[in-house]
Amino acid sequence: MKVLVLGATGLLGTEVMKALTARGIRALGAARSGADLKVDVTDPMSLFLLLTRVDAEAVINCAANIDLAACEADPEAAYRINGAPAGVLAAWSNQTDGRFIQVSTDNYFMGETPARHNETAVVSLVNAYAASKFSGESMAREASNSLIVRTNICGARKGFGRWVIDSLRNRAPIGAFTDYFTSTMHVTHCAEALVDLLKSKHTGLVNLASRDVSSKDEFIRAVANMMDINPDWIEPRSIADLRPTRATSCGLDVTRVEHWLGRPMPTLKQTVCTLVDEDSSCVTPTTSKLATAS
Ligand SMILES: NC(=O)c1ccc[n+]([C@@H]2O[C@H](COP(=O)([O-])OP(=O)(O)OC[C@H]3O[C@@H](n4cnc5c(N)ncnc54)[C@H](OP(=O)(O)O)[C@@H]3O)[C@@H](O)[C@H]2O)c1
Repeated sequence: MKVLVLGATGLLGTEVMKALTARGIRALGAARSGADLKVDVTDPMSLFLLLTRVDAEAVINCAANIDLAACEADPEAAYRINGAPAGVLAAWSNQTDGRFIQVSTDNYFMGETPARHNETAVVSLVNAYAASKFSGESMAREASNSLIVRTNICGARKGFGRWVIDSLRNRAPIGAFTDYFTSTMHVTHCAEALVDLLKSKHTGLVNLASRDVSSKDEFIRAVANMMDINPDWIEPRSIADLRPTRATSCGLDVTRVEHWLGRPMPTLKQTVCTLVDEDSSCVTPTTSKLATAS
């Protein structure tokens, strides 16, 4: 099987490439720079030519602009990267019966609780990022062999996970949101499950996340605990004043994916354990709490 990974240099795409290769699946990665293949997915012709040239049996689309402020500043540009390419990929999928995985977001639900939202929950498009990702979902849905995967990820390489570890280690100021809930999973767990879903026949929409929902404050404190740091300087904060407006109750119900894959999704403890363990300068495998995480 030959699989094309779009956004192969990003937080998720890098792990997806590793997970595919580890399973003996031929993976070709594409991005604007730094990958096997060069593509700008906002250029439909460039994307179409890549699909024709590679002639893959499957595409996993991890390419995105996840910068909420940038999306808000230029919603059309957000649509060109997070929305429109899914239309080209859906057309390719319908023409070739190629498998198409569209990676999406959890940034769709408002509320003040750690509720779990299943795949039929009504979405709120509260910012341009959410609107652009939802338009991508709508286009991906047009392909009969597509699967849309809503997720929330962290990793030690970049983004929120990196920031949490660095901030805790350096005792940097941390304002931790107590009213913003997600079911964040580690990116390696996400990539492994994506490969399983790729090989399955399932289509439609599925949530892929931790089985635990936590506030950002709880998540950061769980990382601190795993790092044996007393987070006594963390300041609880509200996300309400942050702009652009965020969806606040982003917990995902993972019943469907657990049923499909026949295994439980990772807990919060397993997620933060993997995050801290990934950060090799933080703990060694022999002294980490990995063995006791369950
Ligand atoms: N990270 C999170 O917290 C999070 C949470 C929920 C959902 N997600 C979803 O997970 C997926 C992956 O996110 P991520 O965190 O891995 O993002 P990321 O680290 O920012 O990676 C984005 C990837 O897309 C590529 N890309 C960006 N613009 C492109 C363009 N015009 N043409 C071709 N490639 C382009 C980037 O490489 P170049 O810039 O070099 O082209 C990079 O490889 C996205 O669908 C995102 O919505 C992420």
